[in-house]
Amino acid sequence: MSARNRQYLLLAAGCLLGIASYASAGDPAPAPRFGMLDPALARSDYIENCGGCHGVTGSTAPAAVPELRGRVGYFLCTPETRAYLLRLPNVAHSRIGDDQRLAEVMNYVVFVLGGASAPPGRLPFDGAEVARERRHALSAANLTDERARNVRIVMRQCNGPASLRSMYDPLHSR
Ligand code: HEC
Repeated sequence: MSARNRQYLLLAAGCLLGIASYASAGDPAPAPRFGMLDPALARSDYIENCGGCHGVTGSTAPAAVPELRGRVGYFLCTPETRAYLLRLPNVAHSRIGDDQRLAEVMNYVVFVLGGASAPPGRLPFDGAEVARERRHALSAANLTDERARNVRIVMRQCNGPASLRSMYDPLHSR
């Protein structure tokens, strides 16, 4: 191979690498940890079952649906506030009947969409926890109060930001 051909080859390889890293930027690609045996399935389950309301990246502002992106992990704060996540009607009554599969969707939500918001050392959800909590689904009637109560706990015990009180943070949402 001539020196010039080698140069072209290097250039082409560089471009491919550039495209590959560009394609993965900005899209919260699931990491192969955080309690997901199959992160790709957890992500596609999320998009199919939750993304219509919450957005592919967990961001829907300014819609009246709470922002998940970069903040939902705070709710892992106490056993009570993490149970809140599993008792939400759209989670507990999700069409995803398999408890382990729903646990992985929730792990995708809190650890991938939630970014670094989970307090340190919190364990991922598993099927047994989902099975237990989804039997105590919240009703739509007490949802607003229940959310406010859990936000207060998160703010008091885990230094959660006051912006959690709103559906999204007008200063930081995009
Ligand atoms: C029909 C629209 C809809 C669908 C589908 C839906 N959600 Fe929600 N979700 C909402 C609304 C609205 C709220 C706010 C509930 C309330 O009033 O507190 C919410 C609240 C939440 C919260 C709590 C966030 C917070 O800050 O309190 C989480 C977590 C969540 N949803 C995850 C999911 C997951 C995971 C799925 C799929 C399994 C899902 N949702 C499906 C509309 C939806």
